[in-house]
Amino acid sequence: MFEAERNPNNYNASSVTTETKDLGCACLNPYIPIKTKILDIIQETTSDSQDVKTFILSPAKPISFEPGQFVELTVSGVGEAPFGFASSPIVEDTIQLCIKRTGYVTDNLHRLRPGDIVYLRGPYGNSFPIKEMEGHDIFYVAGGLGLAPLRPMIELIFLPENRQKYGNIKMLLAARSTKDFLFKYDYERWSNYPDTDLLLTIDNPEPEWDGLVGFPNNLVHDISFDIQNTYAVLCGPPVMIKALSDAFVKMGIPKNRIYTTLEMRMTCGIGKCGKCNIGHKYVCVDGPVFSMEELDNMPGEY
Ligand SMILES: Cc1cc2nc3c(=O)[nH]c(=O)nc-3n(C[C@H](O)[C@H](O)[C@H](O)COP(=O)(O)OP(=O)(O)OC[C@H]3O[C@@H](n4cnc5c(N)ncnc54)[C@H](O)[C@@H]3O)c2cc1C
Ligand code: FES
Repeated sequence: MFEAERNPNNYNASSVTTETKDLGCACLNPYIPIKTKILDIIQETTSDSQDVKTFILSPAKPISFEPGQFVELTVSGVGEAPFGFASSPIVEDTIQLCIKRTGYVTDNLHRLRPGDIVYLRGPYGNSFPIKEMEGHDIFYVAGGLGLAPLRPMIELIFLPENRQKYGNIKMLLAARSTKDFLFKYDYERWSNYPDTDLLLTIDNPEPEWDGLVGFPNNLVHDISFDIQNTYAVLCGPPVMIKALSDAFVKMGIPKNRIYTTLEMRMTCGIGKCGKCNIGHKYVCVDGPVFSMEELDNMPGEY
């Protein structure tokens, strides 16, 4: 005889639900996702080559996260992919993910509308060491979509109760063209915080553009900052990260004060499948945030 609770005939439709709160504790099964409603979608870029949207999401239960962490998002019947949190971590009932259309999952996600449902599991991964950075200046450099995972840290450090714990803040935000900047609606507010400089650069000159032109690694030499007291936080295409970190190291910033976040291909997100390893590190649990010193001690597979 089968034990009653193991008999599949004992399941009935009313006991099966997609709401996490009804399925019990997610700690028993880390793959159980949280049903999440799309509240709004913001078209960030307007160029033909980049299609980036910010999804404002309302999970059925709040997701509390640290800057730098990520979630796995499922589009029903399509698949799952990892995305870094892109909103302030103090707002827990809604979260924002800023997502570029690159392939199967992201293409299907971009076709969804406000009111549609997706599923999230997480938060996963480590976070930026913002406590360690207290008392120091911070130099953020973001290339394109790289601004998305930095935004939670930017917002957290700009909170009045945190701002005084840090020195000068520099932000160098790079985009291919003026049509490709993300979160443009934040720039005026960010640049009005005390002791903050926000600089924008595009790859090639454009009429009417009076900001910087050129790649960030070629521009940082001309920007004045206190090398002895600065943490550099970089996010963007791997080629930009490499060139920038070389530039910062040559200028005198030690590698343990340069941080970045990696976007390896991932499946489980929780250290089980081995898909995201670099040497003996799993990017999904040991990262995605690493210092350049840590990356130097890992095989160059990223
Ligand atoms: C920790 C983490 C955080 C991330 N945060 C964001 C984010 O905030 N916003 C965002 O838009 N994307 C982010 N990504 C990347 C995102 O996960 C991929 O773009 C997504 O998985 C692509 O899925 P797809 O099915 O649409 O594309 P696929 O059909 O799987 O692939 C389309 C193309 O994209 C390439 N590709 C897919 N995934 C990656 C990847 N991880 N790295 C490099 N190339 C890839 C493929 O080689 C292929 O050329 C993050 C990835 C990680 C690991
Ligand atoms: S994604 Fe499975 S181990 Fe990292």
